[in-house]
Amino acid sequence: MEQNKRVSFSEDPKKSVKASKGPGEKWKVGPNYEVKQLIGTGSYGSVCEAFDTSKKCLVAVKRIGHMFEDLVDCKRILREIAILSKLKHEYIVRLYDIVAPVNMAKFDELYLVMEICDSDLKKLCRTDVSLTPLHINTLLYNLLVGMKYLHSAGIYHRDLKPANCLVNQDCSIKICDFGLSRAIGEQHVAEEPGEEKNTQKLKRFLTGHVVTRWYRAPELILLQENYTEAIDVWSVGCIYAELLGMLEGNKMEDRGPLFPGSSCFPLSPDHKHKTDYRYHTRGKHDQPGSQLS
Ligand SMILES: Nc1ncnc2c1ncn2[C@@H]1O[C@H](COP(=O)(O)OP(=O)(O)OP(=O)(O)O)[C@@H](O)[C@H]1O
Ligand SMILES: [Mg+2]
Repeated sequence: MEQNKRVSFSEDPKKSVKASKGPGEKWKVGPNYEVKQLIGTGSYGSVCEAFDTSKKCLVAVKRIGHMFEDLVDCKRILREIAILSKLKHEYIVRLYDIVAPVNMAKFDELYLVMEICDSDLKKLCRTDVSLTPLHINTLLYNLLVGMKYLHSAGIYHRDLKPANCLVNQDCSIKICDFGLSRAIGEQHVAEEPGEEKNTQKLKRFLTGHVVTRWYRAPELILLQENYTEAIDVWSVGCIYAELLGMLEGNKMEDRGPLFPGSSCFPLSPDHKHKTDYRYHTRGKHDQPGSQLS
């Protein structure tokens, strides 16, 4: 692909997160994997590069700890595994293996072995490189293809954001992090007679508190539970706008999310607005920890 400026997806080595004294010593991944450096962290797990000694290739290993401490988190983990293990597509990260716990009766952490990617779109946006319109269009197209595949399988991702879009130097995208995703398709098919009514019923059960704030669709903020897969399309639009900030001629300091903000009425009120009723919801809607449907 032609480009004006060399695009490197690797981070500044000084800034990259280095694992403290080799996480391999602590990670119980068995003899098949040699854990190397930390390549990412999220709120639910850390991800390390590892060498698969039997296949002789690099893989990414995500460690999920404290698995059974919280019921909602547990549900997220189960969903991530159940959904990701079924998905097979060029633009969705592939789950290769789950390391079996040594002691089935006592385990509280899990290791997911996945295909490894060069970077993610959040790291890319923070790198001082510019992209051509062709790069951006290719990234957008690939992201849309991955999302279309998910939607055609009846899955809403519900947390599309730059950090959850892995990317390789050839501009291929791999959607990852299915902790908030939800399979909707089956119920739609099963409930064909009188579908409208049942779909409404089903939608009412969807939790409103999904998608990271800056990428959250208006209907999710305002209607909360009555949303469709279009919420993912909104998130992709926000990601696209962020990528456009990387066009040559734009200043590094002007890059950033399209809709940044520290509060999101009526979901996620800002702590500064504690006394302002307009920023608070009453009842169950603003309690993400208590429900995940
Ligand atoms: N297969 C992979 N290859 C390369 N990097 C990866 C891979 N999987 C995850 N990462 C990196 O690790 C980060 C965290 O991974 P992931 O989003 O799966 O964790 P999480 O704890 O569920 O995140 P969140 O905070 O969004 O809930 C990603 O943003 C990415 O930078
Ligand atoms: Mg993530």
